[in-house]
Amino acid sequence: MSATGAATARPPCTEDEVVLQRAGLLEAGVVAALQQVCFPEEPWDEASVATLIGPPGGFAILALRGGEPVGFVMTRVAAEDGEILAIGVLPAGRRSGVGRRLVGAALDGSRSLGATALFLEVAEDNEAARTLYKTCRFFSVGRRPGYYKRTDGRVAALVLRHSFAPG
Ligand SMILES: CC(C)(COP(=O)(O)OP(=O)(O)OC[C@H]1O[C@@H](n2cnc3c(N)ncnc32)[C@H](O)[C@@H]1OP(=O)(O)O)[C@@H](O)C(=O)NCCC(=O)NCCS
Repeated sequence: MSATGAATARPPCTEDEVVLQRAGLLEAGVVAALQQVCFPEEPWDEASVATLIGPPGGFAILALRGGEPVGFVMTRVAAEDGEILAIGVLPAGRRSGVGRRLVGAALDGSRSLGATALFLEVAEDNEAARTLYKTCRFFSVGRRPGYYKRTDGRVAALVLRHSFAPG
């Protein structure tokens, strides 16, 4: 509000500004396109994305830079447990804080749906994601040996948990 009480118009987005927005079923194709770039070895189609975010407890968030989609996170909450199903940022948009904001949005959204903790799985060799989750206070609670396929073998998945409980 201005000094006179009149609402001040928000300036238009700058080219570099990142905005997060909830993705509905109409945006399932956009989420799938981002997922395919970020996970070319395990691409999901639009129908798979819709199946995951359509039911109650499922939601997706898009990150838009200058109006263009650059990242996404898909999350599901069942009873008290939330789970990040997938998160990715386009290669050109990485390392500018988008991933951290998407994790924050997944945490906020899960908590508002009643989750007391948020879980995820990350490949043991995924240094970027593991560092991101560490900075977001996720801690390891399990390990699944040989969970992910690699061209030169298999790699373990770490199960990480972020608790909403204080302390
Ligand atoms: C993991 C991923 C989502 C991170 O997205 P991002 O937008 O680059 O992350 P941010 O810029 O918010 O980084 C936040 C913090 O994470 C850590 N981090 C991110 N990328 C990193 C890298 N390549 N190496 C080391 N640390 C990294 C840093 O601590 C960083 O903070 P800093 O830049 O202030 O040092 C992105 O690399 C990605 O899409 N990877 C491919 C898909 C994937 O692996 N998804 C996760 C599956 S579990």
